[in-house]
Amino acid sequence: MKLLVTGGAGFIGSNFVHYWFKNHPKDLIVNLDKLTYAGNLENLKSIEENPNYSFIHGDICDSQIVDRAMQGIDIVVHFAAESHVDRSIIDPSEFVKTNVLGTQILLDAALKHKVKRFHHISTDEVYGSLKLEDTSKFNERTNYDPRSPYSASKAGSDYLVKAYYYTYGLPVTISNCSNNFGPYQFPEKLISLAITNLLENKKVPVYGDGLYVRDWLYVEDHCRAIDLILQKGKIGQTYCIGGLTEDLNNISILKKIIKLLGKSEESLEYVKDRPGHDRRYALDWSKIKNELGWQPLHNFDEWLEKTVGWYKENRQWWKNVRNGEYQTYYEKQYGTR
Ligand code: NAD
Ligand code: TYD
Repeated sequence: MKLLVTGGAGFIGSNFVHYWFKNHPKDLIVNLDKLTYAGNLENLKSIEENPNYSFIHGDICDSQIVDRAMQGIDIVVHFAAESHVDRSIIDPSEFVKTNVLGTQILLDAALKHKVKRFHHISTDEVYGSLKLEDTSKFNERTNYDPRSPYSASKAGSDYLVKAYYYTYGLPVTISNCSNNFGPYQFPEKLISLAITNLLENKKVPVYGDGLYVRDWLYVEDHCRAIDLILQKGKIGQTYCIGGLTEDLNNISILKKIIKLLGKSEESLEYVKDRPGHDRRYALDWSKIKNELGWQPLHNFDEWLEKTVGWYKENRQWWKNVRNGEYQTYYEKQYGTR
């Protein structure tokens, strides 16, 4: 099998490339990545010399590059996206370009080159926001109700993927996954930002009252779910992938990280809330469990501890990415603290 992985130099994409070679060593992977601020070839250093791996530095919005990358491809796994809600609030335009237009360009090329499968990686954020006092969860039948420029652009891409299935018969699958955590996560998302700030003895910014709830999943569980969907998933179907069975709010997670690092809760700094902040995400993953036999294998507390350990052991990795552009973004988002 020859796979085209888009966004393979990012957080989940690079974990997926490692996962795939570990589990399917004979397959070929072409990684197409623009190397935005979030893309980092360091994440793939250990497989750089693998003859089954090749890298194309390019933009999914560039139809010529995409056409070249699609030659001889059996399966597309499409991760490439602008992925951070706060950045989408600062400037939505790149989100529309990459997430919507870029996806459409890939879909066109996938159709032209008659790929056997186009798997689109999406998010639970397209479903909107649940109430804190609710016990309900999102599932595959929940109506879309995106509320941030990020989730709106992801919803747009999901609709296009579905349109290419219904209109042109492109063999697609979609997965809508909850918040991932693990190694190689760019330190702008809650868990990676908190760990790296604490390791530098900096405060951790808590938006609003800190009682917001996300459904967390260890990244390798996400990769295994994608593998199963590629092997056994039904064409045209969507699968929700989630991790937790009980709500865990941001403050509880931050307190766990503080404890793991032996820091004080005074490190928490309540800051201005995110505009339009979605209150609660929770995902019902019974469809993928019942149909494909998937369930998360990585317990949150244990793998949070291992993730903290990874950031402790890989200081140079995150110190390098917390330079330059990161500083400019950080100051714009959080001020000079
Ligand atoms: P990330 O921001 O860490 O990585 C994105 C990657 O895409 C980077 O390598 C970047 O260089 C590349 N990229 C961006 N624009 C590109 C373009 N125009 N052309 C080619 N490459 C481009 O993102 P992530 O957290 O790894 O997320 C990957 C995918 O998973 C995204 O589609 C995201 O919406 C989805 N997702 C993420 C999460 C999460 O918790 N991180 C949860 C659910 C779904
Ligand atoms: P984030 O990791 O950006 O993911 P999401 O796409 O789900 O918003 O944020 C997770 C939660 O953490 C969300 O409720 C916002 C909150 N948060 C903070 O409180 N402080 C921060 O500095 C960041 C980045 C996020």
